[in-house]
Amino acid sequence: MFLTNIPLFISLFLSFSLPLYSTPYLSPTTLFPNYQKMLQSFKVFPYTSPLVFSTPSDSEPLFVSSLLNSSFLTLDPEQADLFFIPFSSINVSARSLSRLVNALRYDFPFWNRTLGADHFYVSCEGLSFGSDRNVLELKKNSVQISCFPTAPDKFVPHKDITLPPSLAGPYSPMEKAKNHLHLGYVRYGAIKEHSLIKELRADSEFLVDSEPLDQLGFQERIRISKFCLFEYGKGDVSGINDALRHGCVPVVITDRPIQDLPLMDVLRWQEMAVFVGWNKGRAGVKVEELKRVLYRTCGGDDRYGEVRGLGVTAGKHFVWNEQPQPYDAFHMVMYQLWLRRHTIRYARREVA
Ligand SMILES: *[C@@H]1O[C@H](CO)[C@@H](O)[C@H](O)[C@H]1NC(C)=O
Ligand SMILES: *[C@@H]1O[C@H](CO)[C@@H](O)[C@H](O)[C@H]1NC(C)=O
Ligand SMILES: *[C@@H]1O[C@H](CO)[C@@H](O)[C@H](O)[C@H]1NC(C)=O
Repeated sequence: MFLTNIPLFISLFLSFSLPLYSTPYLSPTTLFPNYQKMLQSFKVFPYTSPLVFSTPSDSEPLFVSSLLNSSFLTLDPEQADLFFIPFSSINVSARSLSRLVNALRYDFPFWNRTLGADHFYVSCEGLSFGSDRNVLELKKNSVQISCFPTAPDKFVPHKDITLPPSLAGPYSPMEKAKNHLHLGYVRYGAIKEHSLIKELRADSEFLVDSEPLDQLGFQERIRISKFCLFEYGKGDVSGINDALRHGCVPVVITDRPIQDLPLMDVLRWQEMAVFVGWNKGRAGVKVEELKRVLYRTCGGDDRYGEVRGLGVTAGKHFVWNEQPQPYDAFHMVMYQLWLRRHTIRYARREVA
């Protein structure tokens, strides 16, 4: 899935070159027992913060309100595995963040034990590194939960987590069309206006929406298409959840390595999506080449069916619920936090 600097403008990082797994999970034998352990033992202590949390974006406040109303919460910091630092990620200035971290450092003993490594915060856009010592420590040590996709300079791989994008539409299981009418579908905004989208529009095998569509219309498009195309970084990837759930294999077109995929610690993304490297440095995008990739992935309906099936299985973990349900997006983000709970805590050293 990680693209290296390959001169070919379309380089392929595809499931078909790897052995095909019949599970979308990275470690199916440990995920389920560990999930149960997490439910039983994971505890989060929330600081109260003057930087009140209220944001208009979607999955971010839902995650926070679900957390604050969950049984993961403890008001006893001695029981806590992790500490949650709440602040509104909209309009929060580096200076007020700095003051907040400073207050935690001086008012509580917990920050100093790990310099923030057993702390986490939610910031949809992600924080920048900056030069302030407090913010830098927060950024470098604490776990950041941001929205997908997050700009590469605001995301620290293996430490940070992204929220599965949330699409409000209700989920109504649909029967997959027996015969797909389209090879690929591009939702409005999913790929930015440039030469690639022009070529896709001109190709009768692709269905490209040039206007926003309501949820039902979108789901119908998904139903009759084999692949759903998205552009990482610039396009709108919020439909990727629905594409997975409804069995439209996501094709992610990207010009750089992707290190912030949602649920990356849990799922084998390579098995349920197609990643196509696209180097815009080369003039002219060859849709023919893209099609060859897709036909190879479909090569035989068995193979396509399996890739698709894994996506459908994984898709349930991307669902956000007002009242969290087992194994839904909220719980899977909590699971990823739980995986990060082990940090070395230093005993307080008395300075003579
Ligand atoms: C909080 O959780 C309880 C059940 O644990 C639920 O009945 C209640 O509606 C939830 N409140 C909010 C604001 O989601
Ligand atoms: C953020 O700040 C800008 C200017 O300082 C202001 O116009 C905007 O309303 C603020 N947004 C929120 C959500 O407070
Ligand atoms: C944390 O460490 C700083 C020194 O970096 C110290 O000044 C501060 O008092 C410590 N905080 C607590 C609560 O002991």
